[in-house]
Amino acid sequence: MAVLPIVVLGDPVLRAETRPVAAVTDELRTLVADMFETMRAAEGIGLAAPQVGRTERLCVVEVEGQAFTLFNPEIIAREGTIKWEEGCLSIPEVFGWVERAQYVKVRAMDLDGTEIEVEGRDLLAVCMQHEIDHLDGKLFIDHLSFLKKRAAMAAWEKEKGKYPTGLRILVPGEKAE
Ligand code: NI
Repeated sequence: MAVLPIVVLGDPVLRAETRPVAAVTDELRTLVADMFETMRAAEGIGLAAPQVGRTERLCVVEVEGQAFTLFNPEIIAREGTIKWEEGCLSIPEVFGWVERAQYVKVRAMDLDGTEIEVEGRDLLAVCMQHEIDHLDGKLFIDHLSFLKKRAAMAAWEKEKGKYPTGLRILVPGEKAE
């Protein structure tokens, strides 16, 4: 397994269209293992393929000890609303309050190629919606009001100089920034 570089805001892959996955290959199993390792090294709770420069419709989430691999995820039910202060591994040190559904049911294909349904409330629901947004080229900052987005972008202007290559390189075992 390997910790992959995470692309940061400004890389066009974060806005690119993703492609549905027809079958889970060995190469994709390795990618999933690497994405989990990368997410954990970054102390994140979710990671989508575009964040490691890939265009498969694939994300991983891990919330409160529950880990899921989601190929081709789609939200098939949603209920209620919740506001959560979100961040993103591709936009370090930038945060914003986003309103989402409080409950979602997601249908996806898991690592075995089996169709699964995952129900999530609160943080798990927020996380799955955030990651599925990534697969549509959408970022949490897109949900902010004009003024809040402007403030978030100003915060990012100060941060982005830390990533001159456009990549965030994590060293396992080191505290994530
Ligand atoms: Ni994100």
